[in-house]
Amino acid sequence: IIVILDFGSQYSELIARRIRETQVYSEVLSYRTTAEQLRQLNPKGIILSGGPSSVYDTGAPHSDPEIWNLGVPVLGVCYGMQLMVQQLGGQVTRAERAEYGKASLIIDDPTDLLTNVDDGSTMWMSHGDSCEMLPEGFETLAHTENTPCAAIAHHEKKLYGVQFHPEVVHSLGGMALIRNFVYHICDCEPTWTTAAFVEEAIREIRGKVGDKRVLLALSGGVDSSTLAFLLYKAIGEQLTCMFIDQGFMRKGEPERLLKLFKEQFHIPVEYVNARDRFLEQINGITDPEEKRRRIGHEFINVFEEESRRLGPFDYLAQGTLYPDVIESADTNVDPKTGERVAVKIKSHHNVGGLPKDLRFKLIEPLRKLFKDEVRKVGRSIGLPEEIVNRHPFPGPGLAIRILGEVTSERLNILRDADLVVRQEINRRGIYHDFWQAFAVLLPIRSVGVMGDQRTYAYPIVLRLINSEDGMTADWSRVPYDLLETISNRIVNEVKGVNRVVYDITSKPPGTIEWE
Ligand code: XMP
Repeated sequence: IIVILDFGSQYSELIARRIRETQVYSEVLSYRTTAEQLRQLNPKGIILSGGPSSVYDTGAPHSDPEIWNLGVPVLGVCYGMQLMVQQLGGQVTRAERAEYGKASLIIDDPTDLLTNVDDGSTMWMSHGDSCEMLPEGFETLAHTENTPCAAIAHHEKKLYGVQFHPEVVHSLGGMALIRNFVYHICDCEPTWTTAAFVEEAIREIRGKVGDKRVLLALSGGVDSSTLAFLLYKAIGEQLTCMFIDQGFMRKGEPERLLKLFKEQFHIPVEYVNARDRFLEQINGITDPEEKRRRIGHEFINVFEEESRRLGPFDYLAQGTLYPDVIESADTNVDPKTGERVAVKIKSHHNVGGLPKDLRFKLIEPLRKLFKDEVRKVGRSIGLPEEIVNRHPFPGPGLAIRILGEVTSERLNILRDADLVVRQEINRRGIYHDFWQAFAVLLPIRSVGVMGDQRTYAYPIVLRLINSEDGMTADWSRVPYDLLETISNRIVNEVKGVNRVVYDITSKPPGTIEWE
């Protein structure tokens, strides 16, 4: 394991992912982790992340000074390097010229940490402080035009520092540097593989669950599907997979999911048809927040009833991923038992908690994984690509893509229109060019003409967007002929629709979904 001590950098998680790309396991821990705690973890290397502070600020985060004496290689990145310099007796001051963005690395010592990093490589810089005087025993490995000490080393003690960010994609040669640190300096072996993870996860699940029963709410996404597979492999019939059909999924999706689990995985699934209940709950409701609230609430009701009917269960399986673990740290831990407890159901992140008497103990076999690692595991166990790489889909489903009142007539119309969008995109092999691509139904009608007939029907909005993370997004510049085909097909094939419009709003100010 390589431990990353986090000093508040937006890139800490990214460092962990880069290390894992070298097939070495890594974890992000608080900078407060003591040398003693680290010794118990027995890491092969430690990385100190960047951070927003300045080492000479009062109250700036400091690591336990004993970590320099652990005999474990350390790499300080940006703030991490400055801290290393300051704590070991060097000097850091505000740089004359702050350096943000790309800088060209001039290499003074092309061995060790910088083996295979090209002289003149572009590296990403973001710092206002600079190292003025190196501590004893350190030497400079590289500099840039504005930064005399861009990379430093104490070869004997295996302490290294870089002022730039090797983890970001703009840093060419950054991965070579990381590999040097991981393989040559820390002497790690590439053992963090999908097969090794699956094997260990199964062993851990068996150890934890024993002969107890586990409940899993299957949603059809890659996380819950992968979870189901791992759990079933580990504990077989002690697992109950429950799939609640709210009636707001895309056309054919519930059927496909059930078929996949039954025929391909041979994992039994408790199918709960709650379509009428959900529709009834939001009957006549037009306010988006109220709609979401009611759907979330009903989900909990159904979940509670069904788990009582099928239970009792000792554990609830959740698809918590590593980023959630880093973010929530220890806030969800039961103070009595020390076990993590369910405080919300993930697929409905906008709903409140589970009722008190339903506070299951949690089992979270994916809690060490990043999303791309879950995909790899999913793929390795035979999940089809359509699940592994599915676009995000909101918990309340199509109910928030029908503006205003949701009726079964409108659901059917939207399902058919949405299917056309998916078919045309798949036919052209461009599904992965989009973050999301879907249809929205507006609760108004406009006039059209078909044949000799005047029509008065709903419009469909096409929402095709690109995004990195869903936080910001842009509408996709798609070819006109794609829009033309989709529009023609929807108006001709979907009864109740006579007009198709294209949403050309970015996020912000728009959101991706319409409600
Ligand atoms: P917005 O509409 O806020 O959406 O731009 C950002 C991303 O989140 C998805 N989304 C949801 N996902 N439950 C979810 O699991 C929800 O209630 C929900 N609402 C929006 C949306 O599809 C987009 O990817």
